[in-house]
Amino acid sequence: MSRYFKAKIAENKQLQKEHNLLTLIPLAPIKEPEPGQFYMIGMEGDYDPLLKRPFSLFRRTAEGLQILYRIKGRGTALLRNMGEGSVIDVLGPLGNSYPITAKRYTPLIVAGGIGIASLFSLAERFGEDARIFYGVRSESEFLLLEELKKCVGELYVTTDDGSCGERGCVTDTVRSFLSDNTSQNAQYSVYACGPRPMLGALWSMVKGRGIPTYVSMEENMACGIGACLGCAVKTVDGHKRVCKEGPVFSIDDIVW
Ligand SMILES: Cc1cc2nc3c(=O)[nH]c(=O)nc-3n(C[C@H](O)[C@H](O)[C@H](O)COP(=O)(O)OP(=O)(O)OC[C@H]3O[C@@H](n4cnc5c(N)ncnc54)[C@H](O)[C@@H]3O)c2cc1C
Ligand code: FES
Repeated sequence: MSRYFKAKIAENKQLQKEHNLLTLIPLAPIKEPEPGQFYMIGMEGDYDPLLKRPFSLFRRTAEGLQILYRIKGRGTALLRNMGEGSVIDVLGPLGNSYPITAKRYTPLIVAGGIGIASLFSLAERFGEDARIFYGVRSESEFLLLEELKKCVGELYVTTDDGSCGERGCVTDTVRSFLSDNTSQNAQYSVYACGPRPMLGALWSMVKGRGIPTYVSMEENMACGIGACLGCAVKTVDGHKRVCKEGPVFSIDDIVW
């Protein structure tokens, strides 16, 4: 089955000023995606007929796929303007997925900002077993909070400005949680996606504690299929391609 397919936009719904939820109906049978994988999505502009950008699988629905995206620059601004019924080029699912740790581990899911897009389907898969730590700059930036509340065991929210939940970084809440539950640390696994400084802070917190921790890395991508080396990150075993060997890495493999 080819990873390249065309898909019809069923909905391109604005959730917040800078965030949309895109619902796609593939026009051909697709390879089933796993949480953590991503798609290269084509955005047709007058000057960029071949422009593709990487986006995580947000959710697999009965009819198709959903992508949660933040309007950042040229490509995502074009995507925002694509209406219902438009047909776009999609390549995927690409990359690896989040490893599912043994049942004895309680999964702690740590999302910073739009990092929730990559982790949402993982949270749905773990369901009641999962504890989610979700941090954004200000209350208005939370996305689909009610849906998250319904699907996981516990939800801890933080905002940089204190407008909702704890004030501070999401990693502060994770640190307190691990300190309050020291005797159970060996029973946790951690999954994280967010800005690199957040992931670096997480590493300094979990290293040496024997907590299996997986992070989804983001780098600018050109091809998405391992050919251009543009997305390489430094790991303890040399450079690795985020689009091919990743995007999910063990936190201990990355040079922070
Ligand atoms: C594996 C992977 C999964 C991703 N999943 C999602 C997702 O589910 N939802 C979502 O909103 N975004 C996601 N991103 C980020 C998304 O690809 C970028 O925001 C997007 O490519 C920006 O395109 P643009 O044309 O709008 O911006 P550009 O005009 O290309 O760039 C605008 C600014 O964004 C920066 N930028 C571009 N690409 C990235 C990137 N990959 N990471 C961080 N900064 C970037 C540029 O350096 C520049 O400063 C993902 C990235 C990767 C690598
Ligand atoms: S984007 Fe080309 S090798 Fe990863």
